[in-house]
Amino acid sequence: KNEREFLIIKPNSIRRGFIGEIIKRLENRGIKIIAMKMINISEKQVEKLYKIHKEKEFYKSLKEFMLSGPVVVMVVEAPRAIEMVRHIIGNTDPLKASPGSIRGDYGLTVQKNIVHASDSIENANSEISIFFEENEILKYELDG
Ligand code: CMP
Repeated sequence: KNEREFLIIKPNSIRRGFIGEIIKRLENRGIKIIAMKMINISEKQVEKLYKIHKEKEFYKSLKEFMLSGPVVVMVVEAPRAIEMVRHIIGNTDPLKASPGSIRGDYGLTVQKNIVHASDSIENANSEISIFFEENEILKYELDG
């Protein structure tokens, strides 16, 4: 059973030239990209995305960071996509992320941890709806 997962390639990853590397790692594991765009996130979108962190001491800095430049937002689809993507990305803290994971190979700090990915089906659906209309999400089959 396919799941949808939502990801953001964070602003400093764009500035470091990692868009292709991140997409390649997802594609290598058979993950299908079904929506993708490069945007400047709005303040409203960041506030919705990180509402559970509103009271945290790192919130203001996280918000500024996410607004510091363009990001790539994407929706992917795969069996057990949430677990698969989070495995490929690695632990939130790059120091705890395994080598071979995206954060384990490129992450600098907990904030500059390269990518965001939703942590549950429910959160993926609500985060997708912050950034995409349903008609922007595409249907097609990957070649075997
Ligand atoms: P992300 O997967 O985008 O989800 C929430 C983000 O908050 C997380 O990755 C980190 O970038 C950031 N974050 C979580 N904990 C901390 C922290 N202790 N200090 C700074 N940023 C944090």
